[in-house]
Amino acid sequence: MLNVQVSEKQLFDQQTQAYVVMTDDTFEFNETLRSLASQFYPALEALLEQRKFKGNAGEKLVVVGARGNEPVYLILVGLGSMQQPHYDRLEQLRRAAGHVIRAAEAAKVEHFALAVPDERWFAVDIYTVAKELVATMDMATYHFDQYITDESRKHRTDYTVTLCAPAITHDQIKVGVEHGLHVGYAVNQARHWCDLPASVLTPTHMAEHAERIATTHDLKYKIFTKDQIYEMGMGGLYAVGKGSAEPCRLVVLEYHTQAPDAPTIALVGKGVTFDSGGLSIKPAARMDEMKDDMAGAAAVISTMELLAHLKPRVNVIGLAPLAENMPSGTATRPGDIVQFYNGLTAEIKNTDAEGRLILADALSYAVKHYKLDAMINAATLTGSCAYALGPFFCGLMSQHEELSQRVMNASRRSGDRAWPLPFHNDYKVAVRSTVADICNEGNSTYRAGAITAGFFLKNFVGDVPWVHLDIAGTSFNVPDMSYYRPGATGFGVRLFADLIMNWNIQASA
Ligand code: BES
Ligand code: MN
Ligand code: ZN
Repeated sequence: MLNVQVSEKQLFDQQTQAYVVMTDDTFEFNETLRSLASQFYPALEALLEQRKFKGNAGEKLVVVGARGNEPVYLILVGLGSMQQPHYDRLEQLRRAAGHVIRAAEAAKVEHFALAVPDERWFAVDIYTVAKELVATMDMATYHFDQYITDESRKHRTDYTVTLCAPAITHDQIKVGVEHGLHVGYAVNQARHWCDLPASVLTPTHMAEHAERIATTHDLKYKIFTKDQIYEMGMGGLYAVGKGSAEPCRLVVLEYHTQAPDAPTIALVGKGVTFDSGGLSIKPAARMDEMKDDMAGAAAVISTMELLAHLKPRVNVIGLAPLAENMPSGTATRPGDIVQFYNGLTAEIKNTDAEGRLILADALSYAVKHYKLDAMINAATLTGSCAYALGPFFCGLMSQHEELSQRVMNASRRSGDRAWPLPFHNDYKVAVRSTVADICNEGNSTYRAGAITAGFFLKNFVGDVPWVHLDIAGTSFNVPDMSYYRPGATGFGVRLFADLIMNWNIQASA
């Protein structure tokens, strides 16, 4: 947790263990640094010269000086070039924020002061700079270490940060700090659920978290049990869960605004708490990563709590179908045929293509029970998407150009980046079946596994403007990003929050 204060005193007038300066790649040794150097860091100018510190992206210089008998650090972090698109500059700010926490962690510093960089560098307002700084620093403090008993291996997660900025900006900054802390908390909560072993984070356990959130924040909610799911005719969700000793669930959370004539948006997240593949069992290598196959559900449920804090003027329905995909004597067999909530039937050729089966029922439910202006789902759906785009962008598929643009803009602004895949009707035939309406495995003639999975889902969204995000590559073990760690990323929370908070504002990137 971060404890954030705002101060109008100049950075170098702060009493702190570390001074943090963020600079672009036009960094120069200026008067302020000269006066600071004369107090604490006599060799600073020579050191900067020797290390050739330029302020490039990812560059970091940590200098230790002395205030009496106390070490006092200077942490210089590069923001890189300001000659790139503004959303990339904002991303550089986030990565710089991640580097600050890593530097503080390494220096074993508990308190540091940071000069808030000029918002015009990023073509946003000061509220956004504060929000992004705080959310990202909070994300960078995350470690999944609750099962490590050796105290010396645990990291500090609590820091006190003083943000230095002119008094006139403080009102805006304080709102940004508050929102940033909520965002960071929600992202880290989603990461934590993903990182928990699947023996702990079962469908029931996930549903209990959703219920706790709903009752704490007074959200309307429904949680359907395995028997109810069967009786309602949700054959896809039921089929995926029935091989496991852990019963499946469907979570529905509702956030309602008081604002009149507000639009209603559904968020749907894939919640396979463990994906062994079922009888079409996966190879042993990296099967452990399939505890993260509920990353979409985690993002949706955590976003619902975030929205309860941020109170957008939009109604939001969060849905999470939850099941564990296991092989057993009661498991679904390849060749079985199921019927979904909207009446369509599917042949199950491959029990490892289970995400689309549980989403089919959740999407159908959302379309049937709400008058929706938009629906967005996030799912760790295909290895194919992870291969195509790697770890930095999720795949975006949509039948609706305008909603697609909105989501793209939210993705650029928020840092949860998406990239469109071609979603042409030519691919539709890939999910034909000879024995049922559709088949859960795309025909190999058409390859493009991410897109054919998207076309499977399209059968369940009616005419609601819809975006499908395939987050298989972006949800865990994303390398090279200072604000992530090995493990889950909480991908989707920032994108959802940005999309919904900016829904009523004319969208622009
Ligand atoms: N959960 C997996 C997809 C996945 C793979 C997510 C790697 C994250 C990392 C999904 O359920 C799956 O198994 N998909 C299959 C579909 C195929 C059998 C049609 C895939 O992508 O191989
Ligand atoms: Mn699978
Ligand atoms: Zn899966």
